[in-house]
Amino acid sequence: MEDLNETTLTEATLAQMANTEDPRLKEIMEAAVKHLHAFAREVSLKPEEWLFGIKFLTQVGQACTPFRQEFILLSDTLGLSRMVNILHDGRAATVGTETSLLGPFYREDTPVLPAGATITANDSAPQLVIFGQVLNDAGAPVADAKVEVWQTDPDGAYDLQALDPTEMDYRATFRTDAEGRYCFRATYPLGYMIPMDGPVGSMIRAQSRHGCRPAHTHFLIGAPGYRELVTSIYYGYDPYIDTDTVFGVSNALIVEPRENVPGSPIPGLPAIRYDFTLARAAAGDENSRVGADPSKLLAPA
Ligand code: BEZ
Ligand code: FE
Repeated sequence: MEDLNETTLTEATLAQMANTEDPRLKEIMEAAVKHLHAFAREVSLKPEEWLFGIKFLTQVGQACTPFRQEFILLSDTLGLSRMVNILHDGRAATVGTETSLLGPFYREDTPVLPAGATITANDSAPQLVIFGQVLNDAGAPVADAKVEVWQTDPDGAYDLQALDPTEMDYRATFRTDAEGRYCFRATYPLGYMIPMDGPVGSMIRAQSRHGCRPAHTHFLIGAPGYRELVTSIYYGYDPYIDTDTVFGVSNALIVEPRENVPGSPIPGLPAIRYDFTLARAAAGDENSRVGADPSKLLAPA
């Protein structure tokens, strides 16, 4: 038997994995091992540094609850979630609306509301109208599409942060009408700092990053036969519009609420019109979520 050195160790590890039955698992794990070993060689990883990393990842796991997903936050802040989004969009050669991050605050089963309803119980803060159409790549309306929306409150907190987390606010589900139209009322979301009280927050501080996201409203739009659209609209006046901590903004998603927007179903309120285009789903490619409801990611006890 030959003693292992820093290069032959990588080959020996790959050789032990060579019989992996699932070809995609084999491809992913081989690349992961090659890059992990190359990373350790590149920085000459010291034992105490490796242990620090293990402790950090342990803390990330321990911070996860049914209402908080610290691993998604880590993926987002390292640019990995956006990278997966970009690769997914490129592969599907989408003609649809630009995607953005699902983020750690998405929740399933939000209240189903009629067109024009407000998504929040807050009736004292200024309101705006968000409306438009859901279209397909041929420009035809997509009727009965499911439009899920969620955003922060006017202080920059999600319901999961501000309320008893079993309660929901600032989120809802709508269905498009026969013309593909959707419409709802909301308060102005505020940009906010990502959760900084956990291990990811410690990482962000150690990197001297501001940790802020510009104000946005999330959308998750789905209809049978179309690829799910995970996106957000971003409010262009926000000071962090160019330096989002999780790299979610693209130019096509930047909006400005305006008075007297033509066609607004609720005149008298500032409005944003945003039309979304859904791409047809390739087989097995319907799911575009780089994330999930935190409660769905916990292993059963
Ligand atoms: C969000 O959109 O709410 C979000 C996304 C990534 C990290 C933190 C928050
Ligand atoms: Fe968000």
